[in-house]
Amino acid sequence: MKKLQNILCIGAGYVGGPTMAMIAKKCPGRKVTVVDINAARIAAWKSDSLPFYEPGLREVVRDTIGKNLFFSTDIKSAVAEADVVFVAVNTPTKTFGQGAGRAADLQYWEKTAREIQDWATHDLVVVEKSTLPVRTATAMKRVLESGGSPYRFEVLSNPEFLAEGTAIADLENPDRVLVGSAETPEGLAAREAVVDIYAEWVPRDRILTTNVWSSELSKLAANAFLAQRISSVNALSELCEKTGADVTEVARAIGCDSRIGPKFLKAGVGFGGSCFKKDILNLVYLCESQGLGEAAAYWNSVVEMNAHQETRFVAGMLRAMFNTVAGKRVALLGYAFKADTSDTRETPAKVVADLLAEERADLVVCDPHALDNARVELAPHGDSVTFESDPYRAVAGADAVAVLTDWRQFAALDWRRVFDSMRKPAFLFDGRNCLDHKALFDIGFHVFAVGKAPMSHFD
Ligand SMILES: NC(=O)c1ccc[n+]([C@@H]2O[C@H](COP(=O)([O-])OP(=O)(O)OC[C@H]3O[C@@H](n4cnc5c(N)ncnc54)[C@H](O)[C@@H]3O)[C@@H](O)[C@H]2O)c1
Repeated sequence: MKKLQNILCIGAGYVGGPTMAMIAKKCPGRKVTVVDINAARIAAWKSDSLPFYEPGLREVVRDTIGKNLFFSTDIKSAVAEADVVFVAVNTPTKTFGQGAGRAADLQYWEKTAREIQDWATHDLVVVEKSTLPVRTATAMKRVLESGGSPYRFEVLSNPEFLAEGTAIADLENPDRVLVGSAETPEGLAAREAVVDIYAEWVPRDRILTTNVWSSELSKLAANAFLAQRISSVNALSELCEKTGADVTEVARAIGCDSRIGPKFLKAGVGFGGSCFKKDILNLVYLCESQGLGEAAAYWNSVVEMNAHQETRFVAGMLRAMFNTVAGKRVALLGYAFKADTSDTRETPAKVVADLLAEERADLVVCDPHALDNARVELAPHGDSVTFESDPYRAVAGADAVAVLTDWRQFAALDWRRVFDSMRKPAFLFDGRNCLDHKALFDIGFHVFAVGKAPMSHFD
């Protein structure tokens, strides 16, 4: 198979944009084009203000755009010119019909397949970059080759494992790249051609090749395992609060076991992000549709535990604050689903804000990069939620502060100054266990962290 010189990616989102920018940077001899139906998003990629905040992304785009990286809305010409098409469109949870609330909504993916079929001018390698249910490649091939298309389409799976907030480092130095294909001569040739792209900077022994089904399922499995660790440690956090054990100490103790390892064992208000919940629910749906009820229930419990952690965090706030927050000013520090991103999809902060607003708290939301999204998402609460980019202004006069995103700047605040500006008693709820609780208690806060005994001055 000839070298894949003209690379096209359909979908200029959190995955398509950064992934293709990195390929452009590492493969100066190849031309990379990213297209999207969302003209505003494409315009943002071409501007100084990228569509979202991701550390290091601006520099990679600046160094490649106009040289071998191009953004466009002209899908027709881009497909006609491409040697390989990566599909990185969104695959959210279905909200209607069969499988609603669990299955992946494949309408964007199928529309993309049809666009590729409409505009192809020769045989093409099509690569699933989006996270898709196992066996989607068969459906993709059927759509592409339906209606007597004169061209052959080889469908591969190359799921993306980047994490938002560390996307650039993850892309530059990935733990592994996974490329799955049909194990036919044509499939294997296409697989080698895609591997060659990554081999321009990723060591060969970190590029794994598998059959296409293993590749598709591995992405769902990786996210399910990561989320399961968080739900497991969060399940323990509740027991810690009841028994006097400290979840940080327990996590350290178990993480030292080389079979367990220390990462993803931090208790908190719950996981968020666009992927974990939707991918686990997709796995649950796949298990159910194969008649695997026990496996489906097992994975579903990971999502249920996460929802429980979010609601019990708010219940703990209410309990501590004499069972009422009505009319009290509560400052929420952090709205992004994690630090170093402006992404707020499935953020636990929204659940916390919604529940507190229902309790008629006066909320002030503070985040260094996510306030634009927060304003849109919390608009239904009207005047009961305000937005403030300066944390000191956000906490002034507040009865309580809840840390919901572990932005470094929050840990670095002058907490004495925060305390002095608040109404007393001053409550501090650390939903990310990212603050120095003893120091805060010594300042005078009543401190409530996840999985730790409360530190109260009342008794
Ligand atoms: N965000 C992550 O951290 C992450 C990580 C790994 C994998 N993934 C997976 O990657 C996929 C994309 O995720 P994302 O976060 O980048 O989504 P996103 O919503 O940010 O981006 C998807 C883009 O696809 C575009 N699109 C949809 N239909 C189109 C069409 N027919 N033609 C052209 N463009 C179209 C949308 O306009 C949007 O800009 C999902 O399957 C997701 O599960 C995401």
